[in-house]
Amino acid sequence: MSVVSVADVETANGVLLIASRDILTPLAADRAKELNVRIERASDAQKPASTSVTSVRPIVRAPSKPTSTAAKLATIPNSIQQDALSGTLYRRGAPLPPKMRVTNDAAPKTQDDRPRAAVVGAGHVGAMTALRLAETSLFSRVVLVDIVPGLAAGLALDMWHSSGLRRFTTRVEGSTDLSALEDASYVVMTAGRPRQPGMSRTDLTGVNAEIVGGVADGIRRYAPNSVVVVVTNPLEEMTYLMAKRTGFPSKRVIGMAGVLDSARFCSLIALEGIARSQDVEAIALGSHGAEMVIPLSLATANGRPIEELIAKDRLAAIVERARDSGAEVVKLLQKGSAYFSPAESAASMVATMVRGGSPVIAACVQSGGAYGVADTRIGLPVRLDASGVKEILTLSLRPDEQAALAQAARSIAKRISELG
Ligand code: NAI
Repeated sequence: MSVVSVADVETANGVLLIASRDILTPLAADRAKELNVRIERASDAQKPASTSVTSVRPIVRAPSKPTSTAAKLATIPNSIQQDALSGTLYRRGAPLPPKMRVTNDAAPKTQDDRPRAAVVGAGHVGAMTALRLAETSLFSRVVLVDIVPGLAAGLALDMWHSSGLRRFTTRVEGSTDLSALEDASYVVMTAGRPRQPGMSRTDLTGVNAEIVGGVADGIRRYAPNSVVVVVTNPLEEMTYLMAKRTGFPSKRVIGMAGVLDSARFCSLIALEGIARSQDVEAIALGSHGAEMVIPLSLATANGRPIEELIAKDRLAAIVERARDSGAEVVKLLQKGSAYFSPAESAASMVATMVRGGSPVIAACVQSGGAYGVADTRIGLPVRLDASGVKEILTLSLRPDEQAALAQAARSIAKRISELG
């Protein structure tokens, strides 16, 4: 058995007779078509009249037409050809696998007008948020900032190494300096202490207020036109502080909690086996904590009212578990707090702003008279757009739900007033 190469085709005179078990390379077959050379296979018993065969390593002959691939190879020393071609059948024009292409997709060849995003705090939530944002390829760059030397840069480089595998084109960079926020249109604030077992979110107020204050100054200085999504706990207080310290309009400082709490509730309903998480619709309002309010009158599973599908007591227990989900995870982990679903929630809020056409989501915003509750930072139903909160929606709540929301607003307003 031999391999019939392009060179064999090119030196044939109209007809190339080969043995029945000879291998005709795809390239040689193409070349035969181009040159109108007829390939005839002889039986093994029949000796090909003008068989021109190569060993498995193609031997390139001096061609009559110097334009062919074989001709070009003929000018290269045999040792190099044999290394390059060793034992492999090559097809002309066959695309190289992406990993082998010598191009740098990361460096845009033209002006990249996608927005930039930044994540402050390269801990559990921050790192995962940065990766989720990068994976959307909605941004030209995602920069991760953390005070721990090397942490953000190391994580960013590690994420970037996965860009080809995950097929994203957003550059990920890391820094210890808030000046890296320059030109960011969206900043996700995740810097701060997480809860430990036995701690409430409000136990974090003192230490995280200081961190939020410093970062807010940096955001005001380096990303003065950005929209800020606050994740750091306690959520309502830190959202308030971020808005106050940056001086940004309310619509540009949004707290992330409702998306997460809603998702937790929906996922727990799914455990009841009546619908998939994504087919449960519910919205978690109020605070990220004890005063969370899920208006069950609005919740549905596969489009059907949830109160018709699950008994009242059972539903109350699920609401309770959703409200305490953060603590449940903290207790299991023993160290640190939840981050997969929080990061997904924060990143999805930012992505929604960039993509436009926001669905109704819950976010911590300045109530400004909505729902007739105290004017404070509280989880309400909103739509977002590229510049932050587009509108607060007025949903029709039952009296008990409305009362719970009003109570949540009073409690949050009190906590915020104690911040000084
Ligand atoms: P973590 O401890 O893993 O990460 C926090 C990071 O912030 C650390 O890497 C730390 O070095 C960094 N950091 C501290 N001060 C900084 C500063 N001045 N500038 C830049 N970076 C600074 O904590 P994790 O788990 O990522 O949680 C972060 C925050 O998010 C916590 O306050 C936590 O309670 C909160 N959180 C909020 C959720 C919500 O639904 N709103 C859900 C989950 C967490």
